Amino acid sequence: MKAIRIHNYGGPEVLKYEDAPRPEPRADEVLIRVHGAGVNPIDWKVREGEMKEFWPHKFPLILGWDLSGVVEKVGPRVSRFKKGDEVYSLPDPTRDGAYAEYIVVRESEIALKPKSLHHIRAAAVPLAGLTAWQALFDTAQLQPGQRVLIHGGAGGVGHFAVQLAKWKGAHIIATASAKNHELLHKLGTDEIIDYTRQRFEDVAQDVDVVLDTIGGETQERSWPVLKKGGILVSLVQPPSGKKAEELGVRAALLGAQSNGAQLAEIANIVDSGRLMPVIDRILPLSEARRAHELSQSNHIRGKIVLRVKNWDGSLERKRR
Ligand SMILES: NC(=O)c1ccc[n+]([C@@H]2O[C@H](COP(=O)([O-])OP(=O)(O)OC[C@H]3O[C@@H](n4cnc5c(N)ncnc54)[C@H](OP(=O)(O)O)[C@@H]3O)[C@@H](O)[C@H]2O)c1
Repeated sequence: MKAIRIHNYGGPEVLKYEDAPRPEPRADEVLIRVHGAGVNPIDWKVREGEMKEFWPHKFPLILGWDLSGVVEKVGPRVSRFKKGDEVYSLPDPTRDGAYAEYIVVRESEIALKPKSLHHIRAAAVPLAGLTAWQALFDTAQLQPGQRVLIHGGAGGVGHFAVQLAKWKGAHIIATASAKNHELLHKLGTDEIIDYTRQRFEDVAQDVDVVLDTIGGETQERSWPVLKKGGILVSLVQPPSGKKAEELGVRAALLGAQSNGAQLAEIANIVDSGRLMPVIDRILPLSEARRAHELSQSNHIRGKIVLRVKNWDGSLERKRR
């Protein structure tokens, strides 16, 4: 099969479009023909070696932990899925990923994809959607009527967080540069802050939940916006427990987990019309390098997705 693999850590140039062996599912696993693979910042962080202390990856490694596709084969202990099912998944990021024609995923990590989305759009949902879900609902226990500040509201995680918080009935404050304000308005944001012109802490106050997708100075300046008993959930950097204690608030660092059951709930919300992925652009699998360069610019609107199936390589080559 064709895949994008890395043989060592490094810059975008280490991404190689090449032949790789097609994996075989074990007893509790499913082989999926990948149609679309979502691109996330974790992909280039792994490529650069940022995660090597935590995840014992072996080379060559297939990147990409976000996908939608069709079940090709199931292991003998798999009971909930069968050949031909249209599924989506956040696979285990310690194993080979989805920048490939086929991937093997555990049964517990997949769900039927939203019926209302074709595979390319569905592939944008699992990783960022589950992250937003687990941050807002599992970790922060967001309640209707609460005030939530979402940093980076137009990004991969942020745009799902805005819509899920809206679905929950929360009051949403989100930061983004001016070019993304119309989008944030459409997604249901109540108060939009242009972080390039205003200090968000001068505008956002009495917040129950801060979702920190940025870290650094943004995290540091987020403490005073929280009301007593509120919570700061970071995706990027451990917040200070000492600071939280001083202020009478809570703090957590989230590491998103695969979860097929939550993906099934998310699919229902998508099909109800209350949640949709925003696609910044779609690129062929062979252009994973360009996708990484764009993602590393830190100004993606929504998601980038790699088209894995129906990409006619011969046509592509003729055009060049
Ligand atoms: N811990 C976990 O399990 C987990 C899971 C998912 C993601 N993450 C991490 O969370 C971070 C965000 O992920 P993502 O997929 O949402 O990234 P992303 O899609 O690349 O985020 C891009 C967005 O960030 C916004 N942005 C950039 N600088 C900003 C600032 N100073 N203030 C406010 N917004 C800013 C940009 O908006 P403008 O263009 O308008 O500036 C853009 O829309 C990444 O570091 C990722 O690795 C962690």
